Amino acid sequence: MDRIRIRGGRPLSGEIIISGAKNASLPLMAAGLLTDERLVLTRVPILADTSTMGELLAQHGIAVEKTTNDGHTLSLGGPITNTEAPYDIVRKMRASILVLGPLLARTGEARVSLPGGCAIGTRPVDLHLKGLEQMGAVIELDGGYINAKVAGRLKGATIVFPMPSVGATENLVMAASVADGRTILANAAREPEITDLCDCLVAMGAQISGIGTDRLTIDGVPSLHGATHEVIADRIETGTFACAAAITGGSLHLTGGRLDHLGAVVSTLAEAGVEISETPTGLSVRRLNGLHGVDAITEPYPGFPTDMQAQYMVLMSVATGASMVTETIFENRFMHVPELNRMGASINVHGKSAIVRGVPFLSGAPVMATDLRASVSLVLAGLVARGETIVNRIYHLDRGFEHVERKLAACGADIERMPG
Ligand code: EPZ
Repeated sequence: MDRIRIRGGRPLSGEIIISGAKNASLPLMAAGLLTDERLVLTRVPILADTSTMGELLAQHGIAVEKTTNDGHTLSLGGPITNTEAPYDIVRKMRASILVLGPLLARTGEARVSLPGGCAIGTRPVDLHLKGLEQMGAVIELDGGYINAKVAGRLKGATIVFPMPSVGATENLVMAASVADGRTILANAAREPEITDLCDCLVAMGAQISGIGTDRLTIDGVPSLHGATHEVIADRIETGTFACAAAITGGSLHLTGGRLDHLGAVVSTLAEAGVEISETPTGLSVRRLNGLHGVDAITEPYPGFPTDMQAQYMVLMSVATGASMVTETIFENRFMHVPELNRMGASINVHGKSAIVRGVPFLSGAPVMATDLRASVSLVLAGLVARGETIVNRIYHLDRGFEHVERKLAACGADIERMPG
């Protein structure tokens, strides 16, 4: 299995082109199930997860073609010929659950393997299922599968989420787009990836208002048509490289990065001593003087994203003073802490919070991680650590970061992939 070797201590400088967002591409690809016409998506990142979603759609009957040489444009199209999402694919990627709403809404039935728990928490899908039931679906769980059926079309309903869920909002907004009547999603998640999905659905003929807010009103239409849509730039990749610039004391231009998508990351990093400013083509990031300990608490957008928590913790590990990093979204998302402590960090976890006491330096070590964001946090730690760091099990990284080592090496990092 491939590994990444990093020799730390070099400030980064230069330009990084931000890829399309993984977490926007996955629901957008699932939206390909909502029409028989062509949906063309541009700026799709080439990642293990987008290729798994392509595999899943293909077995539902959707032709998925890369139509440009760079592989970033996908053309999806074709009638649904199979409504089962098998365990073998769903177990590789939980976001497979996003086909449930579109399959059911289009064909009146879907059989989707239940995603299990994962490294960061139990991650139930009850909100997806309850919402679809409110829209008239009959759902049974049997043999590890969700069996969903509806006679005729799904019916519009008012669905009030007890808490915002990104995936449930996406599943239901897709289903509601072709349901019969008006659906209101209240206390909906409003991450930029959801806005991106809604914008694409509107381009396909959906009628959605309240886009970008926590209350979406969807007036169902009988069918959607084809469209061409550009995926938004990845805000988590943007934030991760902002941390890379800051932690190495360098400066980077993040081409395509958007300030309005970073939410609380901007003010938190500013307080910690990192300047992020807009340029005509993206964002410019530099560390001003030293880094200071600043507390952060993860929250739904526009709060501080859980997907940036591990990376931010590395920054805090070498800041002056102490900080408290609190994780409120997932119950088991501190798996990077023991690895960072092995590199010399001083982090103590107490329930949902981690107390990070800044240390003068980290030391390189062989490390490994159990999820995507934790893996990239170890790469960040390696960039600043004295000596050599080997990050093992990088298939996690390949699920969500396009050519991370090439992008960092081009800005001066001493980093390489070692085929294993
Ligand atoms: C999305 O996951 C992202 N994945 C995650 O990114 C991200 O961490 C998460 O949103 C939060 O921002 C994709 O977009 C593909 P949720 P999702 O439903 O949709 C609970 C990464 O590293 N919940 O908003 O699964 C849930 O357990 C990944 O790229 C229920 O209780 O997240 C969690 O505590 C990891 N019942 C909270 O809601 C449900 O039916 C938020 O989860 C659904 C969710």
